[in-house]
Amino acid sequence: MVSIAPFGSALQIQSIGLRYEVLRKPLGLVFEKDDLLNEGNEIHLVYSQGALVVGCMLLKPIDSNILKMRQVAVDEHHQQKGIGKALAQYAENYALENGYPKIELHARETAVPFYLSMNYTIEGERFEEVGIPHFRMWKIIYLDT
Ligand SMILES: CC(C)(COP(=O)(O)OP(=O)(O)OC[C@H]1O[C@@H](n2cnc3c(N)ncnc32)[C@H](O)[C@@H]1OP(=O)(O)O)[C@@H](O)C(=O)NCCC(=O)NCCS
Repeated sequence: MVSIAPFGSALQIQSIGLRYEVLRKPLGLVFEKDDLLNEGNEIHLVYSQGALVVGCMLLKPIDSNILKMRQVAVDEHHQQKGIGKALAQYAENYALENGYPKIELHARETAVPFYLSMNYTIEGERFEEVGIPHFRMWKIIYLDT
């Protein structure tokens, strides 16, 4: 199930380990202490099974209209089972309920099909971030009646 993990809670701390394993370690990168300490104003979503965090996502308010979706990670043994989609749907409901009409993100090229499957749109050219190709993507969030 998806929930919001308070900053500094056991679930949020556990999600840092997951982000490291899935997003950083394969690229030979580590987290900078300051990066992690500066995430107190972001929304930390976790997908947990019992006490175990198997998926996570951060939502960073950019301004009063835009949320940036970032650090989306699902444990490699739990991928392709709908967990990423559940996190994205929770994020979209959060955006709707909190008055953010747009979600933006930088998608790794390998994850673009995942976002396309949820109707995110590619904007602009491929660019490099953390040493790998990315695309800017976005989605307008509205009540689907
Ligand atoms: C990308 C990632 C977050 C997707 O999460 P997931 O739980 O594996 O994806 P889901 O099972 O929820 O998939 C949702 C949909 O996307 C599709 N999808 C997911 N990954 C895909 C891929 N690599 N290629 C094509 N389609 C994909 C699924 O088929 C599914 O489509 P459906 O709804 O039509 O059945 C996850 O695989 C991951 O953590 N990857 C490594 C880290 C990463 O790339 N993070 C994103 C950085 S921008």
